[in-house]
Amino acid sequence: MQTAQSIYYPISLDEIRAKVARKNGRRNGLSNGKLQQMSLFNNQLLDNVKEIVNEFGEKIIRIDGDIPPNLPVKDGDRFLFISYNQSILTHGLHKYPAKFFPELPRWLIKRYSEEGNLILDPFTGSGTTNIEALLTRRHSVGIDVDPFSRYLSKVKVTPLDEEELQSAQKYLLKLILNYKPSKVSEKDMPVFPYRDNWFNKEIILELAYLKKIINALDTSEDIKDFFRICFSSIIRSVSNADDNCTRTVIRKKLNKKVFLADALKKFTEVILISVPKMIEFSQNCPLGISVSFPDTIDARNINYQGYFDLAVTSPPYANAVDYPRTHQLESYWLGLTIGSLTPLKKKHVGTESVSSNEYKNLHKIGVKEADMVLLKIFQKDPRRSYIAFKYLDDMKINLLEVHKALKKEGRYVVVVGNNKIRSELFESWKYIMELAKDIGFKVENYFASEIIKHFIKVPREERINTDWILVLRK
Ligand SMILES: C[S@@+](CC[C@H](N)C(=O)[O-])C[C@H]1O[C@@H](n2cnc3c(N)ncnc32)[C@H](O)[C@@H]1O
Repeated sequence: MQTAQSIYYPISLDEIRAKVARKNGRRNGLSNGKLQQMSLFNNQLLDNVKEIVNEFGEKIIRIDGDIPPNLPVKDGDRFLFISYNQSILTHGLHKYPAKFFPELPRWLIKRYSEEGNLILDPFTGSGTTNIEALLTRRHSVGIDVDPFSRYLSKVKVTPLDEEELQSAQKYLLKLILNYKPSKVSEKDMPVFPYRDNWFNKEIILELAYLKKIINALDTSEDIKDFFRICFSSIIRSVSNADDNCTRTVIRKKLNKKVFLADALKKFTEVILISVPKMIEFSQNCPLGISVSFPDTIDARNINYQGYFDLAVTSPPYANAVDYPRTHQLESYWLGLTIGSLTPLKKKHVGTESVSSNEYKNLHKIGVKEADMVLLKIFQKDPRRSYIAFKYLDDMKINLLEVHKALKKEGRYVVVVGNNKIRSELFESWKYIMELAKDIGFKVENYFASEIIKHFIKVPREERINTDWILVLRK
């Protein structure tokens, strides 16, 4: 039933519930369709594994859904992994650029470790490795320099009490329907650079209200954090910035429209979708498994020795994603960043925050093929050449640190793509493989995963098509 206030402020919970039901229906329908397709494959190596040939005449092994732990893999093999699990349980809680599809770390963890083992992800991002380690009963540590990543990951691996969660949700829905702009005062609205350009006035009031009612919930901090992440997940879509770009930018050409009550409606929709997923995760979450996201260490300063059985990661791509700028608005609203992003940017592997005296001269990494490309880039753009060199140098330090942190015979699985820098092909995976050999890793296996979909646009010339998976052994 509509109250006077919901007529004044046009939110219909029934309409949003119907929309969520339609979305859930579509999702289920889609996976049924895909499952039917799978049964068409007859000449399979394993149930869901099939050889195909792509448009360039290359042989590719297509795998639908879960990857069999004993899958035969030869050096140079190319795989097309079709994921059905992108957003199951807590995996889909928030967008995150270049994240793993869950089947990949699940497979690697099962293939290369045992229950009770210790797993490390030194570039943990949105915590996909940690969720999968937890669900397969392995302890794990996730390292990331970005406070937003650590916050999101912590929420995604923290099971919640079902009753408490549902009653908090019910209370929030009631307060959302009672929203009035006059319930928000100046002190509820965070102050950050260009706030009034990024958001319309009405949306700032709505977001401030949502933040205030979450903070005021009479419930555990873990439940509040879960709702804060739901809140964060709508911020980009109700801002004036482009929804589909890794950088947070306003594109006048897009003529993006944000309407009155959008923040309230989208938050309502997100919690109606996410609470059941969190409940399902909590029901499936094993007890007695530890997951931690230390905030004092860095992928280049890991501080553990002979500790981990396995490390699985996807480091940033050279020159591709500016993570602090991706989550800039979310971090401001969550109170994780105040003011300039530069100090955080400088900590990132792949940072573009470099000063002119650093790139006056050509820098070499000591891998012949890489140095030839660094020279070519230097001739066109010394700054880009230094950024690319610095990326490899940081990755070299990371390899040394992970080598130290692993137990004897432990493995480091690195998933990394190629990209183009100033039109030069920059084959990060090859250079990283050479650097790994130099510091004492043995290359056990390397193979490719073709990427068929990006959720976020990157400039065409920098588009990443193939990820390479390196299995390195201490
Ligand atoms: C490709 S993402 C990882 C995505 C992750 N596999 C997932 O599924 O969400 C790379 C991550 O490396 C992090 N990163 C960059 N520099 C770092 C550093 N020096 N130490 C630790 N993490 C870093 C970024 O913040 C980003 O979250």
